[in-house]
Formats: sequence, C-alpha cells, structure tokens
Amino acid sequence: MAERAGIRFMSGRLCLQSRYVVSAAGEAVGHFAFSLENTTGKPIASLRLCLQSITRLKADARVVGARFIRRFANLHEFETEAALGVGEVWTFEAYGLTHAPQHACDGPKSAYVTYADGSRAGVECAPLTCPPGLDTGQRKALPDGACPETIGVIPWPSQVATDQLRDGVPRLVGTRLQAEDAAAFEDVRALGQRLFARDVFAGQAGEIALESESFAGAAAAYEISFQTGCVTLRHADAAGRVYGLITLAHIWQGAWETDELGVPETGTIADAPRFGWRGCHVDVVRHFLTFPDLMRLADILAWLKFNVLHVHLTDDEGWRLQIEALPELTQIGAWRGPDEPMTPQYGFSAQRYGGFYTQAEMKELIAQAGRYHVDIMPEIDMPGHSTAALTSLAYLRDPDEPPESYFPIQGFPNNALNPGVIETYRFVETMLEEVCALFPFEYVHIGADEVGPNAWMQSPLAAALRQDEGLADTVAMQGYFLRKVQAMLRARGKRLAGWDEVSHGGGVARDEAVLIAWQDTDKIGDLARAGYDVIASPGQAYYLDMAQASGWSEPGTSWGGTVDFATCYDYEPSKGLSDIGLAHLKGVQACIWSEHLTDIAAFNHMVFPRLAAVAEAGWSDPARKDIARISYLTRLLPRL
Ligand code: ACM
Repeated sequence: MAERAGIRFMSGRLCLQSRYVVSAAGEAVGHFAFSLENTTGKPIASLRLCLQSITRLKADARVVGARFIRRFANLHEFETEAALGVGEVWTFEAYGLTHAPQHACDGPKSAYVTYADGSRAGVECAPLTCPPGLDTGQRKALPDGACPETIGVIPWPSQVATDQLRDGVPRLVGTRLQAEDAAAFEDVRALGQRLFARDVFAGQAGEIALESESFAGAAAAYEISFQTGCVTLRHADAAGRVYGLITLAHIWQGAWETDELGVPETGTIADAPRFGWRGCHVDVVRHFLTFPDLMRLADILAWLKFNVLHVHLTDDEGWRLQIEALPELTQIGAWRGPDEPMTPQYGFSAQRYGGFYTQAEMKELIAQAGRYHVDIMPEIDMPGHSTAALTSLAYLRDPDEPPESYFPIQGFPNNALNPGVIETYRFVETMLEEVCALFPFEYVHIGADEVGPNAWMQSPLAAALRQDEGLADTVAMQGYFLRKVQAMLRARGKRLAGWDEVSHGGGVARDEAVLIAWQDTDKIGDLARAGYDVIASPGQAYYLDMAQASGWSEPGTSWGGTVDFATCYDYEPSKGLSDIGLAHLKGVQACIWSEHLTDIAAFNHMVFPRLAAVAEAGWSDPARKDIARISYLTRLLPRL
C-alpha cells in the first residue's frame, strides 16, 4: 500500500463505470447505472463507494443494488454489504436525478471506496457514457484562411493605417525615452518574456528606435507612428503608454511567429478602449489555481488589455484567501477531503485537496498586475455560497435552524450567512477590514448570487429579525444584509460590486455599486433601468464554462446554451439598449467557472480562444469586428 495525502491506496486500482440510461418509457430524465469490478486481487467483504457527480441524486432517489447512505451537494455515498469476490462486479442503479446530464463531465468526476476496516482506496472514474446517438457535435474548428491583416494585434485597435511591411524583424530599441517610458518598455518586455519565454522586441534585421511623448487624448489612448528607422509612441496617460507598448509587443510577436504578419515600414495606429471595465473573473474555489498559474492568468489578461481580474475567492466548496484575524477560514475552509470537515466535491476526492493565497501572495499579484493596469477585484461571495465560512466558523449558524431547511440551486443545504445572527456582522466586518486594506481596487465584489429559495425562513433568529425590521421574506432579508455590507464598504472607502441579484429585496445604493449581469442578456437593461451601473457578462455569451458544442464528449455546462467562439464573438452587449441602458453599460466581463477545470489542459480548452473574443468586445469598435482576423490571430495567443 502507498500512502498519499492521508489516504492508503491499495494496488489494483478500482475503476467505476457509469452509464446514463434513458428509460424506454421516455421519461425526461433517465437514471444512472454504475458498476465496479473487484480488480484488487483480493476478496472484498463489504465496501462503501463515495462519488462526486454534478448531476445529483434527489433526497428521495431510489437506488437499486446498493444502500444510499448520504448526499451532500455533489457527494453521494453508497454501500454494499454483499461480498465481492476477485473479478466480481458490483452493479447498482440510481433513479431520481436532479437533471438530465448533457455531457460526460456531468457524471462522476472522482470517487473512492472505504473498506470494512476503514482503509480507503481511490477509484478511477471512466467518463459517463450515454445512450447511442447523443455524442454528436464537437467544438467547431476556427476558420483557417489567411489573415486579412498584416499586423497581429488583439484586441484590434480603433484605427489602423499601415501597409507595407519591413523585410525581416528589426530589434526595437528604446532611445531617448523618459524614465517612466523606459520603465514601462522594460515591463512590457518582461511580460512578453514570461508569456513567450523570449525577448519579444528582439530582431534579426537591424534596429529601429522607439521614441515616446505624451499627448492630450482620451483616457488610456495612444498613437503609434511608424517611420523609416523610428517608431513614435504617443500616450495620453500611464495606461495609454502601457497599452501602446503592448500593441507593439503584439506586432513584434506576430512578426516572429508567422510570415503573414510583420512590422510596418510606415503608417499609424490610433487607439483607445471602448469600455472602462474589461474584466475577467476566475473561480479558484471549485478547482484551485496555484499562485503561479494565477499570476500567469493575470499576465495573459494584461496581454489582451483586460483591466480587471475578478478573483472568486470564496464559495461553498472553499475559502481561498488568508484572513489573519480568522485563521480557521483557511485552516478548515481551504481543504476538502474524506477526513476533512469540508467534503470532497469535484475531482481529486480521495485526497486532501485545496489551497489558499496568502496576503503576501496577493500583494505580489496586485503589484505585478498593476504594472499593466490590471486591477485585482476580490470576491467574497455572501450571503449565499458560504458553506466554507459556515463550516470553518460554526458559531455563525443559528443553532435552532433545522438542518437542510433550504437548498439553493447547487444543492448545498443551509449555505447562506444568516442576517438574523449577530455574529454574522462581526464576522463580515472583521474579514472585510482585511480585504479592504489588502486590495487597493475601489470595488470589492460581495457576490449575492443564488441565495436559496426560502433561505432562513425556518431560523428563529431570522424570524426575530423579520419581525423587528418588518422584513417579509428571504429577498427582503438579503437586501437588508447587503445594505449593511455596503455601509461597511463605504466606511472603508470602497464601492460594492456584485452579481445581478444584489438588486433583489430593495437592492443597495445605486451610486456606489456596479452589478455584473449574468443570468441572461435582458438583465443588462433591467439593471440599468433600476439605476445600476452594469457590466455585461451573460452566461449565454461570456461564461467560458459553457460547452462549445452540444456533443456528449465536449466538456462544459449548458444552462446558457451552447457557446461556441462565434456566439461569444458575435454577441453585442449594447444591442437593444435604450439611452438609459447605454449610459449605464460600463463594460464587459468573461467568467471562468471551474467546476469542470480539473487540469490546465481543461482550462485552456474552455478559456481559449473565447477569452480573446471578450477582450475584443471590451476594447474594440464593434463595427470593426472580423471573425476571420481574430480567428487567425488567436493562434498566436499564449495559454496558461
Ligand atoms: C453565478 O454564475 N452564479 C454568478
């Protein structure tokens, strides 16, 4: 037996086979059929199987061939008391699924068994198989024609008037640069070096001098003019300086990568961003992104001229930010495992899994991203999605609230900070004190999504709050709580960012908030009419966890439909908005939810090339969109 992360693995690894079976009677939702062969080489007296599947069993599910012991969100545990001889197969069926799976990744992601003596073994999970005929439709390849342009820049600049290319790639040399320009030039060179492991401004065809000066342009604007022997960068401000240099780095990188692209001999580029908020969210909870990977993601965003990295730091499945005054949050809440208070949920269930970022690491991220004008926006998701906080700090619960008295969409019972519990406010204030001091960005994202229907309605402490404050129901209590959180942020000089449900239950002060509209495209106009500034991030276009094709083997989720590259690129957030809507639309944001991102290959498959489509939506003039151009250029993008 080998020892790994506290789990003993027996030789002869077990493999769980899972099938989705549609019944002959044509029910909307079929059932799961599981089989586990004893490949251990030894007879097994009895065993329990714990599997993690995002397609869940309902509480009253009927299981044939096994005893259904427990269910906690995606975790399901079954038992057989029948002995399993060498080579024998345990089969059982589970009826009563929460929904019909649409992709193989909707089935078990990981599993382990526990033997009668308490020892455990990890189990391999074969991909969920489906009834014949469902596995059609794979991610479409991007058009692979020639690039319709001669320079390689994503997002595409506002005006490009370049024609003839130089022969070969000249070395770009910063001459006569002011100190700040020279420092930014070196920062962008370092960015290229980290992303491509080479000096992006190097050349093999002579030298060309870079000069720079400031000019009175719009915020973040820059202009580049190419003349024989010299490139002049004019920038309106510090951001424009960096963006202009990044554009030059793209041009040089494209020239290195392919003969179709090069460095212009003469001509001009004039550019400024369309939106002031060009965000990308990343969920580091469901699957943890190591700190070096998070730093690299920030670099990739800088390369694409995003300016907000929204880090989803807490959720039901984990707490990923060190809070010095509340060490339990990361001692307990950052780790899932068979022997941890936090239960296994997605991949890697047989081991202790997780991690968190120290405040020192966050400072390093903030400093590095800041050089490229990328702000780091922390998200502390509340009041819902708080199982990790509630598991770490049990005193935050109302002891008299019945367990499992409400279930939000993702199945974590009683998972919301309770507005009727006085310790809730002490906890939020203590935690926000550190968060606000750590992150210089003016916005702190406080979540507010997906509070379960009827949350707290059976909590006596919440009932007392309702009575005292005249609050009718769950959404009224949520609004009450969020207004208190907004006051805590205000007292620390911060503004509130949140998901579109912040607007429920009376909402918060409009002039100190920005809401990210995610549930559907209509939310942008709805929130604007309610007086909120809005960032467009509809699941149907900008959620990079949506499957890119309908086929069973294509990974991803599908509640927002199938979002292939063209769907993402063609979406126009301002479409159909009134003048009020247009005035409140402040930007766009990609969202990288990580339930299915079990490794870097999965991350890259989901995130690229769609991330580039959102980059262009945030920066470029929609009239100049060109799917042939961007499809060609996305080949040059760095990956995680
Ligand atoms: C969300 O996707 N729950 C914001």
